[in-house]
Amino acid sequence: MAKQKTQFVCQNCGRTTPAFMGRCPRCGQFDTMVEEVIVVETPGAGPRTRTAVDSAPQRLTDITSDGVERLEIPVEEFSRVLGGGIVPGSLVLVGGDPGIGKSTLLLEVAALISSRYGPTLYVSGEESARQIKMRADRLDIQARDLYLVTETNLDAILAHVESVKPVMLIVDSIQTTHSDDLRSAAGSVSQVRAAAARLQELAKESGLAVFLVGHVTKEGAIAGPRVLEHIVDTVLYLEGDPFHRYRLLRSVKNRFGATSEVGVFEMSAGGMEEVANPSEAFLAERQVNAPGSAIAVTLEGTRPLLVELQALASSTSFPNPRRTANGIDYNRLLLLTAVLGRRVRLSVFDKDIFVNVIGGLQIKEPAADLAVALAIASSVRDRPVYADLAVIGEVGLSGELRAVSQLEARLKEAQKLGFKRCLIPRSSRRREIQVPDGLGIIACTNLGEAIDQGLLPAHKND
Ligand SMILES: Nc1ncnc2c1ncn2[C@@H]1O[C@H](COP(=O)(O)OP(=O)(O)OP(=O)(O)O)[C@@H](O)[C@H]1O
Ligand SMILES: [Mg+2]
Repeated sequence: MAKQKTQFVCQNCGRTTPAFMGRCPRCGQFDTMVEEVIVVETPGAGPRTRTAVDSAPQRLTDITSDGVERLEIPVEEFSRVLGGGIVPGSLVLVGGDPGIGKSTLLLEVAALISSRYGPTLYVSGEESARQIKMRADRLDIQARDLYLVTETNLDAILAHVESVKPVMLIVDSIQTTHSDDLRSAAGSVSQVRAAAARLQELAKESGLAVFLVGHVTKEGAIAGPRVLEHIVDTVLYLEGDPFHRYRLLRSVKNRFGATSEVGVFEMSAGGMEEVANPSEAFLAERQVNAPGSAIAVTLEGTRPLLVELQALASSTSFPNPRRTANGIDYNRLLLLTAVLGRRVRLSVFDKDIFVNVIGGLQIKEPAADLAVALAIASSVRDRPVYADLAVIGEVGLSGELRAVSQLEARLKEAQKLGFKRCLIPRSSRRREIQVPDGLGIIACTNLGEAIDQGLLPAHKND
């Protein structure tokens, strides 16, 4: 009889232990340890013999890298995130929250690739072929060479690949794919890891580009195995607020291009449409000359984006005034209101303050500080920020303005969008910077000065 060894694997972080534990010693999650079979030994197999060696080391100079052409995708936003097209033989993981649009995006890409390069195979373990066809009709996809199959068994998927011989394979999702070799349930760490490793092998051997869809847990890790991120060549996350139209495709790991590149898409009834000029889209509904609004130039990856930040200050009816941050870090908002109160003597202590980033974007970098502070000051003083002014700068605890990275790229984007002036930290000017033609620069040392320069003069009756 075959002897089985088992181990306990944390379904959250992949940590293995020989004995059951109620709480994972690595990630601290409760009740995530699941017993899984690791080795199936056949008695009488004898002592280990040397494995036959198939591989042979080659001189680096003898290996040619030409002949590997990327598959071009006519969707610029997608192509850029991958580093300029799909690399044949690569394994790409696309993660994202449920319903964010992963299947939609990949179906569109598969259709485009199939019409240009030949057969593509879309394997779905979650939806029936009819369901996918309904989606394809909605997206108006008519691709002759796009093959669909509903399958969760890994061996069957490999057999389909053998018969269709596609240039690109999409597995939606890796959590539903399971191999008969393992006894654990589909979606468990060992199943997901084994399936990904087999598909990686397939990609490397046959030069087939493989896309895996992965679900993201609440904590933001791809469900179960963080290890998956190490196996694949590229990890893309599709993110966005489900209540907003915009979706960001972000690369967090890429063996074939720069990471933290971002592609912007818009979710519509016709599918995921690329947004070629995201800054323009984010500013489309802006109300000029309304108090409490400022335009920040933030960086998403290497790409500058203009976004509108809105603030509303209203008299509070609570002993502790409320602070609500939507799209920016809550603690950053507390810090900025404290600086506004102490250093600029703005009366924020008796006011509830709400800050919102338009378009459902999450801004993490401090370069948007000045825009947040200016929007709050604008609402408190009820004076609008100049309509043609973009704002860049980090705010320090003494109210000083600090330099930010990639200033020139940010200024260029502001000028491209028709802004006439830009408020920047004076310390940025120490270095020689190239200012785009037609863009006026207002350099300020501290927050007080920036507020004086950025807000329209007070009304007479103020
Ligand atoms: N008729 C429609 N019009 C507009 N948007 C739609 C329509 N039908 C679906 N959608 C959008 O498509 C989204 C679902 O997209 P999709 O199935 O690609 O997401 P997913 O990330 O693959 O989800 P899952 O994790 O469930 O597989 C919905 O959340 C909805 O926003
Ligand atoms: Mg899906």
